[in-house]
Amino acid sequence: MRGLLLAGSQSEWLRRQATRRGFVRKAVSRFMPGESLDDALQASHGLARDGLSVILTHLGENVRDRSEVEAVVRHYREMIDRIQVEGLDAEVSIKLTQLGFDLSRELALDHASALVSYATRLPGRFWIDMEGSAYTEATIEAYRRLRAEHPRSGIAIQAYLKRSAADVEALIGYGAAIRLVKGAYQEPASIAFPSRPEVDARFLELAKRILTKEARARGAWLTAGTHDTRLISEIERHVDATGWPRDGLEFAMLYGIGRAEQVRLARAGCRVRVLISYGTHWFPWYMRRLAERPANVAFVLRNMFGG
Ligand code: FDA
Repeated sequence: MRGLLLAGSQSEWLRRQATRRGFVRKAVSRFMPGESLDDALQASHGLARDGLSVILTHLGENVRDRSEVEAVVRHYREMIDRIQVEGLDAEVSIKLTQLGFDLSRELALDHASALVSYATRLPGRFWIDMEGSAYTEATIEAYRRLRAEHPRSGIAIQAYLKRSAADVEALIGYGAAIRLVKGAYQEPASIAFPSRPEVDARFLELAKRILTKEARARGAWLTAGTHDTRLISEIERHVDATGWPRDGLEFAMLYGIGRAEQVRLARAGCRVRVLISYGTHWFPWYMRRLAERPANVAFVLRNMFGG
């Protein structure tokens, strides 16, 4: 089921069908407060009332048209302005392929650099999402260059990739902020751990590595991007046992998932960010959300039959 849904996320035909259907749009709204920046900002204010900060991302990937890339950049600048004006504790996350990485790596890096510069008016971090494995090496290299200019930028690292232990070591070496996630794409067993227990074990190992005294002394930062309550409890226990302050790391979850856990963590003195994705290009992203929990397909079907 997971493989089918992830393969479906690349289908143009399915995308056209899904985006036209009201019942799919209704199901998507579970994970997205709306398609506009106003919707995302309004949701951010609501979350702030519960002590939750946010990360905002405007949906889009594999953009191959220069004028579309320019529109994306303009949108992110407007997002940054609005975050500042509205005084929100909001960070920004982008995908390099949304900035034209498939068209020209230099172009995407120039745009990312200009955006991260622009975002320095905000107190928070500027994140680079990690996409499929075809982009891993290039994304880390782009991040390395970006970070040399903008130390407040961070990168997502996927625990399911076998290479991630080495990547985390290198990133710790230059004090990077790492948003550790399990990984959301379809990857072959030659490069990714195929079983859930292996991925979970690797996630915990990497999280603990980023939280070591030595890594922290170098300036490394952990944002643990997961809804897995078992992993979250293990990390909380580890932090308490090592005497590291609870606000010396951050948990991050996706909008619409694990709300009770988000509030529980915030009340327990942890930093929590909710990643809000919004926009009209939601199809491949939504298919990845379905693939993470195939039971979500039942939710779409229930919407389809109105029940
Ligand atoms: P797991 O899949 O084991 O889920 C644990 C529990 O969480 C489930 O039992 C269920 O209760 C709940 N849950 C998880 N997913 C759900 C869903 N879709 N619907 C309903 N319930 C769900 N990936 C990537 O490749 N690159 C990236 O840059 C990012 N960025 C990112 C940022 C943040 C803040 C988060 C939280 C996640 C990402 N991801 C990501 C996605 C990540 O790789 C992963 O696919 C999801 O977080 C799901 O994995 P969990 O860690 O939640 O564990």
